[in-house]
Amino acid sequence: MDFALAEMATQDRYKLMASTILPRPIAWVVSQDKAGTLNAAPYSFFNMVSADPPLIVLGFLGRAGGGLKDSAANIAETQEFTISLVSEDDAAAMNFTCIDAPPEFDEIAAAGLEPRPSAVVAPPQIASAPVSFECRLYETIVPTGSSSSIVLGEVVHMRIDDRFVDADRLHVDGPALGLIGRMHGAGWYTRTGDLFQMSRPVFADYAAAKHQGDDS
Ligand SMILES: Cc1cc2nc3c(=O)[nH]c(=O)nc-3n(C[C@H](O)[C@H](O)[C@H](O)COP(=O)(O)O)c2cc1C
Repeated sequence: MDFALAEMATQDRYKLMASTILPRPIAWVVSQDKAGTLNAAPYSFFNMVSADPPLIVLGFLGRAGGGLKDSAANIAETQEFTISLVSEDDAAAMNFTCIDAPPEFDEIAAAGLEPRPSAVVAPPQIASAPVSFECRLYETIVPTGSSSSIVLGEVVHMRIDDRFVDADRLHVDGPALGLIGRMHGAGWYTRTGDLFQMSRPVFADYAAAKHQGDDS
């Protein structure tokens, strides 16, 4: 079946794209307004998009009733935020922080989470998370006629729990992080433990094998 997305309602496009672009990593975004009111919420329109400069992307939909979500409004106001990655141990707390609360509601305290001070940006990070990124706003893209916004953030500092990283080799035990990802529909998630490995092809090996095959 084919779908002409440009002619479809936003909600229907969301449904088709978010049910097929799977799994998605989850950014647990902590931000604050100028007065220092803290905010935490999960965002799965999230990925690393460059290492030079070190950039991540976040996609914010508009609020159901119009206007920016609190995280997007705070980032526009203060230009700083943190992203913590979500392990299965933090899944229930992460899910709580997507509550549709008013801006003054502190999701971190209400979820019973500990904030940990960041090294170089003002917003703290989720202390129990295995990995956190400290980010500064790099660029905001606001599509014409849309209530969505796309934020590029520059990662200015990163923290990995000592248990998961060999600092000399910069080797991170990815599976041990126990991260979860967002799946299709309402409320489905996946674990990241079902792995398989493939080595990258090298053209010289491919050409040599083909040559040998042609000769025999
Ligand atoms: C796992 C998960 C991923 C989500 N991803 C997004 C997303 O990428 N973009 C978005 O606009 N909302 C997303 N949401 C919904 C927001 O988290 C929700 O609207 C939240 O209340 C926003 O909080 P804020 O206004 O404090 O920023 C997601 C919710 C969950 C549970």
